[in-house]
Amino acid sequence: MGKNLYITTAIPYVNGVPHIGHALDYLLADIWTRYQMQNGKQVRFQIGTDEHGNKNAMKAATMGLTPQAYADQAHAPFKAMAEKVGSSYTDFIRTTDTHHKAAVQYIWQQLKSHIYKDTYEGWYCNGCEQFYTDKEVQANNGTCPNHQTPFEHLSEENYYLRCSDFSDQIRQAIETNKMQIVPEFRKKELLEMIKDGVKDVSISRPRKNLSWGVPVPDDPDQVIYVWIDALSNYITVLGYPDQAGYQDFWPADVQVVGKDILRFHAIIWPAILLGIGLSLPKKLLVHGFINVDGSKISKSLGNGIDPVEVIDTYGLDAFRYFFSRHIPTQEDGDFSWEKFESAYNNELGNDLGNLVQRTASMIKRYEAGVIGELKAGEHDMGPYHKAMEALDFNQAFDEVWVMVRSLNQFIEQVKPWEIAKARETDTDAEAHLSEVLSHAAGTLLQIADMLVPFLPETAKRMHELFENAVVPDEITPLFPKLYVHTPDPRAPKA
Ligand code: ME8
Ligand code: MG
Repeated sequence: MGKNLYITTAIPYVNGVPHIGHALDYLLADIWTRYQMQNGKQVRFQIGTDEHGNKNAMKAATMGLTPQAYADQAHAPFKAMAEKVGSSYTDFIRTTDTHHKAAVQYIWQQLKSHIYKDTYEGWYCNGCEQFYTDKEVQANNGTCPNHQTPFEHLSEENYYLRCSDFSDQIRQAIETNKMQIVPEFRKKELLEMIKDGVKDVSISRPRKNLSWGVPVPDDPDQVIYVWIDALSNYITVLGYPDQAGYQDFWPADVQVVGKDILRFHAIIWPAILLGIGLSLPKKLLVHGFINVDGSKISKSLGNGIDPVEVIDTYGLDAFRYFFSRHIPTQEDGDFSWEKFESAYNNELGNDLGNLVQRTASMIKRYEAGVIGELKAGEHDMGPYHKAMEALDFNQAFDEVWVMVRSLNQFIEQVKPWEIAKARETDTDAEAHLSEVLSHAAGTLLQIADMLVPFLPETAKRMHELFENAVVPDEITPLFPKLYVHTPDPRAPKA
């Protein structure tokens, strides 16, 4: 395996502001990126915005702007959000970029032998930018469950991509994990969906029904369907087809997507890639949805959580902690302020923050700050690495916490403060104390290594505390207690 790795994230529509779902995409991809970089790999990490289509054009219209002028403003908050969550992305693509648009037309031309024209009779949801079958529409009583708007009936001439040409190849790639869908239950769902073969998909819309998009080459009446345009970003951002170097990064090692868009990535995207003669991505990491207080996030409930508010109140690593450990990487998860604040105060504050603080102060108090000889690598990091490789980040985090807990227990049992007292009478105590404290410091350094992908700032501070011969003079506490959404147990009782 070469050293160049590539990870991608879904590119959000710009019709709204960035929300927690987008932040989750950026965070998961960032954890993987930092983990690989820590292991000496070079990683390209793409993010971007999906700017064409009716959904975006309609939003622009409500603001009295052209779609382009609207997108020129609306893409920026996504970049800001990616930075806010600390993601170390390398590339930002907008689907209105000139190079991207030309490359999408080139892709269309390469696909020519798999494209035919037909009439589409059926349903569409603008919110999803997705075609729906009669069966799906009936099952939902005519209303899109994601957007609570009625499905639109369409009767129009479209170009189709003959995905059926690639049915066997796609099914086989998924079955054999050549293109691995993670987790396994999503892979099963997908295989069930395509067990009778892959259906051809509509890949254009008449200009009168979709004006904001990339024109179909040689047919001024047709515009390329937004999903063809959007999926292509993963290769155009690398320079496909005309800029050397994309071959060094494609196929992607991991593509991070939410569960609602798996079918686009596991059916249409492979069909495009096979049609133009490129390899399939190695893995699709499918994450679930974040709910709030047990309910779906929705505009009408107004129950969204603002990642910026979380980060500004509790700090970046607190945000990264909760959303990578308490939101399971591969399943739906639930956020509540109570859970968040309890995880912050009890786990980050007590379990980790106090442990670090205590260890550093004991070394200062009893050893004049001098850290004894470190015996590194005492703990088995196998289960941690195994979980990281399996893209099971919350599991990896649990492995870190096993070490945090057992170091806390160790200190409680050994009671270094008693050994310190015993030094007055016991000549062996000095050596014993130094061994105990350097063991604690060494374990904290190992924990810090494992935290690098998750909590970069905390890992850095832990390294600074314990990686030199002497503990620094200033020790600022990690994760000081905060009670914003739950009662402060320290408050005097009324
Ligand atoms: O689908 N919890 O864009 P998008 C977790 N433009 N993830 C969530 C979520 C939630 N509550 N809500 C949304 C699009 N997401 C297309 C993508 S890619 C070529 C084109 C995730 O803005 C969702 O699953 O609707 C997806 O991964 C991402 O946010 C962008 O969704
Ligand atoms: Mg969506």
